[in-house]
Amino acid sequence: MRTLLAVALMTAGLAGAATPNLAGVWKADLTKSKVPGPPLTNYLVMIEQKSAVFDRRTKEEAPEVIETTGTWSQRGAMRSVLTAFDNGKPIVLSYEGVPTRLTGTSSGNTFTVIGLVAGRPDHFKRTYELSTDGQTLTINVEGEAGGHPQMSTVVLTKQPDAEGEPLRKPEELASVVFKNVKTETMKNMGSSDFINQMHYFSWSLGKPCTFCHVEHKFDADDKKEKKSARKMIDMVAAIDKDNFEGHPAVRCFTCHGDHAHPLQYPQFPDEIAAEAARNAQAAPANAPAPH
Ligand code: HEC
Ligand code: HEC
Repeated sequence: MRTLLAVALMTAGLAGAATPNLAGVWKADLTKSKVPGPPLTNYLVMIEQKSAVFDRRTKEEAPEVIETTGTWSQRGAMRSVLTAFDNGKPIVLSYEGVPTRLTGTSSGNTFTVIGLVAGRPDHFKRTYELSTDGQTLTINVEGEAGGHPQMSTVVLTKQPDAEGEPLRKPEELASVVFKNVKTETMKNMGSSDFINQMHYFSWSLGKPCTFCHVEHKFDADDKKEKKSARKMIDMVAAIDKDNFEGHPAVRCFTCHGDHAHPLQYPQFPDEIAAEAARNAQAAPANAPAPH
């Protein structure tokens, strides 16, 4: 009897320190929310929570939070997925296409995720605050991307699970959504994964979207860099197929490592300084996506 009571007390103690129950489907009240960019017609969030392996080497587990966000505007639908762990330890995962060091912690009704983009000053802090009745979730974001402050507040209310259907069904393919997608690799991606790849290209080469694109004419093939990039996409797919059983082992960063032209030798100190000076003046590498 006494052991049972002790176990019950311990569980209650643990529950107090656990991640707030954010799981479920949420819909933004757009009149109460502040989101930059084009006016939105709908904003849905689906959150899944479970225990998952945090460290593949030690098999250490931790509470995992997977947030899928869908936004709809006159420019179409966009989806983004954030995976974080609630154990106060950093982990590098891809977020919006770019390797990001994510650290999650919770306290009472609030779950917080700090994100730092690899190799860039870009960073963010997302807080998820649950109301005491568990029916209202406020997601606050503050940070910086490409030298610009980023701020948003989204007030969401709990929905029946069925409302999450638009986020559960597969996205339309890039070849359907965009006008001029030619590589086999990119054609079969979901449209948001495709845009995430674009962010990844910019990040890998340390160049803005306009390195390959004419502004506001993303479908145009006017720039030689865009045509080279298509060859590179096919080349990377072939290297992985022929040498790594199709696993994505070689990626743009493997050769480019933050440079438009891969280095042929380690840089000399004056070259490093000259490049740093050029980058400080250059346009931000992570310009916002056209959605
Ligand atoms: C290294 C070159 C490169 C960079 C940098 C780049 N893109 Fe692209 N982009 C491409 C290529 C190549 C395609 C076509 C892919 C294909 O044909 O499979 C493309 C296609 C697109 C399309 C589809 C246009 C259409 O209607 O066909 C969009 C939208 C797009 N890019 C947006 C972006 C954004 C936003 C950025 C910056 C975050 C960006 N791109 C950065 C190479 C680049
Ligand atoms: C196996 C190494 C390797 C990989 C992987 C690689 N590249 Fe390249 N890339 C090169 C080399 C080498 C050049 C030629 C550099 C030069 O012109 O100085 C180049 C050139 C380019 C150029 C042309 C630059 C210019 O100024 O015209 C673009 C754009 C480019 N790569 C994009 C990509 C993208 C996007 C990826 C990933 C899909 C990628 N590369 C993956 C090695 C690689």
